[in-house]
Amino acid sequence: MRAFALPGFDDSPALVDLPVPQPGPGEVLVRVQASSINGIDLAVVYGAMRDYMEYRFPVVVGKDFAGTVEALGEGVSRFAVGETVFGVVKDLGDGALRDYLTIGEADTIASVPDGLPVAAAGALGWAGTAALDSLAAVKPEPGTFLLISGATGGVGALATQYAALAGVHVIATARPGAEADLMTGLGAAHVVDYTGDLAAQVRAIAPAGVPAALHLAGDTAVLAGLLAEGGRLASTLGYLPGAHPALLSVVADATVDKLRRLADDAAAGRISVPSTRSHPLEDTGQALADFGAGTLGKIAITF
Ligand SMILES: NC(=O)c1ccc[n+]([C@@H]2O[C@H](COP(=O)([O-])OP(=O)(O)OC[C@H]3O[C@@H](n4cnc5c(N)ncnc54)[C@H](OP(=O)(O)O)[C@@H]3O)[C@@H](O)[C@H]2O)c1
Repeated sequence: MRAFALPGFDDSPALVDLPVPQPGPGEVLVRVQASSINGIDLAVVYGAMRDYMEYRFPVVVGKDFAGTVEALGEGVSRFAVGETVFGVVKDLGDGALRDYLTIGEADTIASVPDGLPVAAAGALGWAGTAALDSLAAVKPEPGTFLLISGATGGVGALATQYAALAGVHVIATARPGAEADLMTGLGAAHVVDYTGDLAAQVRAIAPAGVPAALHLAGDTAVLAGLLAEGGRLASTLGYLPGAHPALLSVVADATVDKLRRLADDAAAGRISVPSTRSHPLEDTGQALADFGAGTLGKIAITF
């Protein structure tokens, strides 16, 4: 089977040929039909995760998967062959960008409900989890402002929708034009251009500052300076040396309950999966380069 993998630290990631895995007891074998690019994939291929994971080459990249259950290991009862499923791969070295993967039935995998296309499911799990966890960290109240810096990415576009659904007034960062239009369409109450004077634009909307802000991109010092007294600021960007002392660091923690919530909301049309581009698996290298150059929503991978 094909897998998109890093062969060694000095190599470029490429398609490699690996044997199809066999599901062990309690595991399902999934034929992957869709995935997407996440920031962690870039970090893995650049070798930046050396301190956090063991690089056992070839390191297969990818967090998100959606596809069809192809076979069941002994004792599996949650899933049936032929069922459409999606989820998140937790092991960074044994990723989702492959034709087949095995995953424990009790692990981070859930059914895809009717009404949710498999391509959308493949772009939902990791960014959606990060969006839910980021919002849980800053707990924005209905009727109050939430500033989202990096709102135009996969995490931000989903966080914007969830916050807007809850009656929060989202101030979303976006470049003018298509990016700003996307954010307004997703429910942002205000759009600010991060390439201009962000602080002045936010102060014009919320003179007393914002009670909550998400840092998904940009400068934490600027965001911290825009907080109202007692305001909460959360970041998904990991450890940031010299960051504001009150900064809450978010590490997405995928669970079956969160995956089900995301899938149900997407299937019911309460949220949309903001996929704006897609590449076939063999062009994943280009998809990673595109992601690194700036994204509007998710970049999907098709199989
Ligand atoms: N901690 C965790 O568990 C976790 C989980 C998921 C994601 N993450 C991280 O969270 C971040 C967001 O994830 P993502 O998937 O949404 O990434 P993404 O798709 O790359 O989104 C980032 C967005 O921010 C915009 N942007 C760039 N510079 C900006 C600036 N100075 N101010 C405001 N916006 C700016 C980009 O748009 P342009 O096209 O305009 O550049 C892009 O749309 C990434 O760093 C990712 O690695 C962490």
